[in-house]
Amino acid sequence: MKVLHAAAEVFPLVKTGGLADVLGALPQVLVKAGVDARLLLPGFPAIKKGVLQQKLVCNIGAAFGAGKVSLWLGSLPNSESGNNVQAYVIDAPYLYDRVGNPYQSANGSEWPDNAQRFALLGWVAAHLAAGELDDDWCPDVLHVHDWHAAMACAYLAMHPSTKTTTVFTVHNLAYQGLFDERDFHLMGLPTRMLAPTGLEFYGQFSFMKAGLAYANRVTTVSPTYAREMATPEFGCGLDGLVKARGTDVSGILNGVDGAIWNPSSDKEIASKYSASNLSGKLACKTALQKLLGLNVDPTAPLFGVVSRLTSQKGLDLVLAALPSLLADGAQLAVQGSGDADLETAFVAATAAHKGRVAVRLGYDEAFAHNMMAGCDVMLVPSRFEPCGLTQLYALRYGTLPLVRSVGGLVDTVVEATADTLQQDTATGFMFGPATPAALADAMEQAVKTFANTKLWNQIVLRGMAQSFSWDDAAKDYVALYKEALQSNS
Ligand code: ADP
Ligand code: GLC
Repeated sequence: MKVLHAAAEVFPLVKTGGLADVLGALPQVLVKAGVDARLLLPGFPAIKKGVLQQKLVCNIGAAFGAGKVSLWLGSLPNSESGNNVQAYVIDAPYLYDRVGNPYQSANGSEWPDNAQRFALLGWVAAHLAAGELDDDWCPDVLHVHDWHAAMACAYLAMHPSTKTTTVFTVHNLAYQGLFDERDFHLMGLPTRMLAPTGLEFYGQFSFMKAGLAYANRVTTVSPTYAREMATPEFGCGLDGLVKARGTDVSGILNGVDGAIWNPSSDKEIASKYSASNLSGKLACKTALQKLLGLNVDPTAPLFGVVSRLTSQKGLDLVLAALPSLLADGAQLAVQGSGDADLETAFVAATAAHKGRVAVRLGYDEAFAHNMMAGCDVMLVPSRFEPCGLTQLYALRYGTLPLVRSVGGLVDTVVEATADTLQQDTATGFMFGPATPAALADAMEQAVKTFANTKLWNQIVLRGMAQSFSWDDAAKDYVALYKEALQSNS
């Protein structure tokens, strides 16, 4: 089976969040499972530089305002598991040769031509899938990720004779790719598609709707988020459409790439450790406390955050619950970047509580590993969370997740209660209402549990024993591809 994944990010070349981790891992495990999986990526500078041994596939010519567009095929840098994944790169310097973030300029505003930049990604995906760009390879399934690649489904829908099976995965329904209706003519699609049953969305047009409305199957990254997307609370205005797709919508949990996130082989951390010998974990905590200027104190439970600083992630709740956390004798370490207000507030909290609160602004992959290893608790108090990867990494590192009971967080963490502790199934802490008081209660429970070393270690070991393997996810995707192919034939 041949599967083409179209996406805007891939670890380690371009990453703003978990999307990149998924694209760095899933095609590889699919290849390992015998699927001929390839990637299609926009030619951002890091992609052009990082995809190896590129050969020209074809010249496309002018498209979406870019004078010279061409398609190249190379391979992703070798992973430790050795599965070489091939990747198509769209070379369109006029649209993609820009420094920094793939979506925004240095001052944080969206690139004004994002509609054209990502329509090109969808357009190339559709035409590759229609067998028009590469004489040597044509996918059976086109798997597009998030709004960035979603327009592929609209372009294919315009060509009913092209029977490519499409799967659209929603990694985050809140980022929809909404653009001014007046720019719709730039998309090269018939105006009849600019209807509420098509791409129209309250006076704008929506890339996300292209995926939701026209893909053969829609998936998201956890079963709970698949259900939540069909509700007004989490549907971001698209719950009606999601609901209408009925059983075409399903959830497949993300996994953990054990070659990258594994405390027994992690080269970034102060001391390697494993479930059978946890002594290195304390060394990692001490090293982290020193690095961050926190008081070096093994008895103070160290709570951590590794996150984009946006309202989705509920970090305002952490700020509001901070006095009670500190009163309980805990420490807080934050690594993140994003909204200026949150950055400023965490910096102020650090200044006000020297030695007990520390913040590291900016994006630093290696430091994230030190946070996972050195903290005792990883906070993920999200307002919504399609899957969430940080709690999965935390579990691997024996760092107990404290999460809100939404989305993938519910599907991956077992809350410590009298019952689950007694049955030895508990892996973390959980709270319900998105309020500082509810978060503070769960933090207090974690602090009290931390004081009981035997109980704490029981939960740590249960957490470290969870697998969340990409192999399981790959099996589910293969089953879904087969089923979608069959019903589309
Ligand atoms: P999302 O994709 O919504 O941001 P996930 O939990 O799925 O959330 O994935 C977040 C990914 O980004 C994880 O790999 C996490 O380690 C990483 N990450 C988030 N913030 C930072 C940061 N400031 N520095 C390094 N890595 C970060
Ligand atoms: C999104 C979601 C996150 C998910 C990630 C990878 O960024 O916010 O929950 O884990 O995509 O699927």
